[in-house]
Amino acid sequence: MKVGVIGSGYVGLVTGTCLAHIGHQVICVDNDAEKIAVLRRGKTPIYEPGLENLLKRLQKNGRLSFTTQIKEAVRSAEILFICVNTPPKENGEADLSAVENVSREIALNLKEYRLIVEKSTVPVQTGEWIYKTIKSIQSDEGLFDVASNPEFLREGSAVQDFLKPDRIILGASSPKAERMLRELYKPIKARVVVTDIKSAELIKHASNSFLAAKISFINAVAKICDASGADVENVALGMGLDPRIGPHFLKAGIGFGGFCFPKDLSAFYSMSEKLGVPFHLLKEALQINQEQKAYFVRKVESHLWNLKGKTLAVWGIAFKADTDDIRFAPSLDIIAMLQAQGAHIRAYDPQAMARAREVLPGVSWAKDPYAAAKGADALLLITEWKEFLQADFKKVKSLMTQPVIFDGRNVLDPKAILKLGFQYFAIGRQTESRVGALV
Ligand code: UGA
Repeated sequence: MKVGVIGSGYVGLVTGTCLAHIGHQVICVDNDAEKIAVLRRGKTPIYEPGLENLLKRLQKNGRLSFTTQIKEAVRSAEILFICVNTPPKENGEADLSAVENVSREIALNLKEYRLIVEKSTVPVQTGEWIYKTIKSIQSDEGLFDVASNPEFLREGSAVQDFLKPDRIILGASSPKAERMLRELYKPIKARVVVTDIKSAELIKHASNSFLAAKISFINAVAKICDASGADVENVALGMGLDPRIGPHFLKAGIGFGGFCFPKDLSAFYSMSEKLGVPFHLLKEALQINQEQKAYFVRKVESHLWNLKGKTLAVWGIAFKADTDDIRFAPSLDIIAMLQAQGAHIRAYDPQAMARAREVLPGVSWAKDPYAAAKGADALLLITEWKEFLQADFKKVKSLMTQPVIFDGRNVLDPKAILKLGFQYFAIGRQTESRVGALV
């Protein structure tokens, strides 16, 4: 089938590339001419495992192309995906102006039937607005349908998630729209759930919010573990074995980040308020998440005494491993709080340093994890990159001024670390060095 993907960010690029990979003819659009030039050269502006190779190959064999003109996509593609940004406004609501602009431009160029599919994460009822917007310009109702097909791609494994999804949600407004979307996804084996558009929109917001709330739940439990002497890893294991709870997203740490959970929780809450049914649990989940970063900083402070003049090695800036994305990364707030106490930060991240340099003033950047640890009073593990888990900790210890590790992700083996002579502190984890701790 012929597909147009409007917006070539994380979601758009992965969607376009993977749809081309499963046999469709895809044209990706973005109004950022520089980005399109980079993509045409076969490069991806983001780090996403497997994406660049696929994109290069599909561009070469002619199944994937790039343009800055929405018009080109509307003219040639029978299905148009809206994958533009829906950033948060100051008040937490989703800013849908890009969705509106794209809808208008599609309408202005509509000459024959097109299926317009929202893929960006949007609040419930956005489909209705898209429909109304297009209808106000194109009165011929038979010329288009609107559908919702939310994505469940995780950064770092987005290509795999697209090609092997748990489920495909099709929010379709007509039998024709459903037929076309079923045909589009035919090469992918997955359970297909067909719903109305509003339910599809809600499935996305509710799924992300549920996962984020699950993380906040275990983070709150982790603090109770710290305070009481229990171990959150054991608690999570015991809870997760109940299939009604499940083991995933029960990893305690410094809280969730990224461009999805924080903004989706806020947007979902705003929408619930607008609808007159405020979903207070989401506010609490956000609050716990915010507090988690300060909790980690307090832990560092309470074990190092004064931070003024101390050098802290920070391993990892990205909001999670296998991505260079630093949007809403816990590292940003944590570093700012540590700097405010007078600490000197020496940081390293395998992929995110180029982006991080632009937003983190006053940080010294190291060429590898060892250079970051050299002369440091403590090491803070902030992102769970494999490179850090496999580091030579004997060497790390020999480089540091004081052998102290704060594991913000609960990923190191406490026994092995303690055996090497480090002091080890994590989130809600029992370790020998916790005895007598102030937090
Ligand atoms: C998330 C969802 O998992 C995807 O299903 C969804 O499609 C995507 O948002 C989106 O809306 O586009 P992503 O933001 O890439 O994906 O990252 P996750 O792997 O879900 O992690 C989110 C944050 O939670 C990260 O900061 C991660 O470190 C943290 N996390 C995750 C925990 O702190 N504990 C856990 O147990 C799991």
